[in-house]
Amino acid sequence: MGQFGKVTKAVIPAAGLGTRFLPATKATPKEMLPVVDKPAIQYVVEEAVAANIHDILLITSRNKGSLEDHFDRGPELEQRLADRGETQKLATVSDLVDLANFHYVRQHEPKGLGHAVLTARSHVGDAPFIVMLGDDLIDEATPVLGEMLNVQEEFGGSVLLLMEVPDDSIHLYGCAAVEPTHNPHVVRVTGLIEKPEPGTAPSNYAVIGRYVLSPEIFNVLQGQEPGRGGEIQLTDALATLVDRPAEHGGGVHAVIFKGKRYDTGDKLSYIKSVLELALQRDDLGPALKSWLRTLPLEDS
Ligand code: G1P
Repeated sequence: MGQFGKVTKAVIPAAGLGTRFLPATKATPKEMLPVVDKPAIQYVVEEAVAANIHDILLITSRNKGSLEDHFDRGPELEQRLADRGETQKLATVSDLVDLANFHYVRQHEPKGLGHAVLTARSHVGDAPFIVMLGDDLIDEATPVLGEMLNVQEEFGGSVLLLMEVPDDSIHLYGCAAVEPTHNPHVVRVTGLIEKPEPGTAPSNYAVIGRYVLSPEIFNVLQGQEPGRGGEIQLTDALATLVDRPAEHGGGVHAVIFKGKRYDTGDKLSYIKSVLELALQRDDLGPALKSWLRTLPLEDS
C-alpha cells in the first residue's frame, strides 16, 4: 500500500502538558477547555468525521482521563436526562459515543510532537494517515481536509496545510519554502524549518496543524534527533521527506489555506476564538454583541 493507500485514520496528539494555560490545565487537559460549549477536541473530531474519517486515534498521557470519558457513555447522566425528558441535551452527550471509532495510545514522556506521532505507528500501519493538532480549529464553513486528501491521492507522499502569516509571527510556526506546481492550488515544499529565528524565515508560509503523512515518516522519526526546544520535531522529520524520492515515501506538497482558522493554543488567541465563535451563534451572538458594545474599551 504505502504512499498511495487510502487514508482512513486520523491521529490527534493530545498528550501535551498545556503549560501555556496554567493553572487552568493543572488538573484538566487543555484539549477539554470549552470553546463556547464544546471542548476544543470535539471540534477537531467533528472535522475529521465531516471528511469521512471515522477511525480516530487520540494520543494521550497521564491526567487525560476526561478525554476518554468525553467520548464514552455517561450512563447516570444519560438516564437522568432521559427521565427528565431533556432529549436535546441527551442527544448532545449520547451522540458523541457514535461519532467515530475512538482509540487511545499513551505517550509516556513529553518528548515532542514528532515523538507523539511515532507512538501511533502500530495503529496506523503502512498507509498514509492524517494528523490533526488540537490547537488549530478550522471553521466548518471552510473545510480543507478533503482537499488535502485529494492532493495526497494526486501527488502521493505527504501533504501539509500552509497559511500566510505576518513577518512578526512566522517564528511561532513551522515554516515552509515552496515552489509552484501545475496545479494552482498546490505548492511543492522545498524546505522546512521549525520556528525559525526572527528574521531568518525562508517565507511567510506557516505550517498549520493538519497533515496527511506518508507512513515513511515513522522510519524517519525513529532516528530523529531532538530539535527546537530539545524536542523531537515533526517538522524536522518532514524536512527529511522533502528530499527523499517519491518511490521511498518522500515528496511533500501543500495546500495554501485561505479559510478561517481559530487558534486556541495561547490565552489571548483562545479568548478571541471563543468570542468569534460565540458571536456566530444564533442563541448567543446577538446578546453577546450588545453586551460587548457596552464595555468601556478606551485605555484608562
Ligand atoms: C506545532 C508544530 C509547528 C506548527 C504548529 C501549528 O507547534 O511544531 O510546526 O506550525 O504546531 O499550530 P506548537 O504550536 O505545538 O508549538
